[in-house]
Amino acid sequence: MRTLARALLVGAVLLSHAVVAAAADTVTITLPPDHGALPPGPGMEVTQKACQTCHSTDYIAMQPRGGEAQWRAVVTKMIKVFGAPIPDDDARAIVEYLAREYGPSR
Ligand code: HEC
Repeated sequence: MRTLARALLVGAVLLSHAVVAAAADTVTITLPPDHGALPPGPGMEVTQKACQTCHSTDYIAMQPRGGEAQWRAVVTKMIKVFGAPIPDDDARAIVEYLAREYGPSR
């Protein structure tokens, strides 16, 4: 009986060490690089704030260039389909910004 108690005690001590060791391990992950800031201009800050919540702004830069209709469709999709919490005023400013900075003429 005494041997069993000692075995249990030793087991418990080993286990607690294992738990502490696992908790002390730090996991480091490297995120893929974000290729850059949005170009400066009116509406840049609101766009950055609203569009970076879920993903990198690389998603914007990777799109084909397009006018207001294209960008309005993108912003509306983010709001309606993916639930982006963007008020109407901000959405308008974002569409204007995107159509200007990522428009067909640039
Ligand atoms: C609530 C989260 C969320 C927010 C906020 C958000 N997006 Fe997205 N976005 C997504 C998801 C989810 C996808 C699809 C990802 C995928 O397919 O890998 C996506 C994809 C995209 C794409 C790729 C093309 C496409 O239609 O799938 C673009 C461009 C884009 N987002 C632009 C924006 C812009 C501009 C904003 C700011 C107005 C924004 N996103 C804000 C969730 C969000």
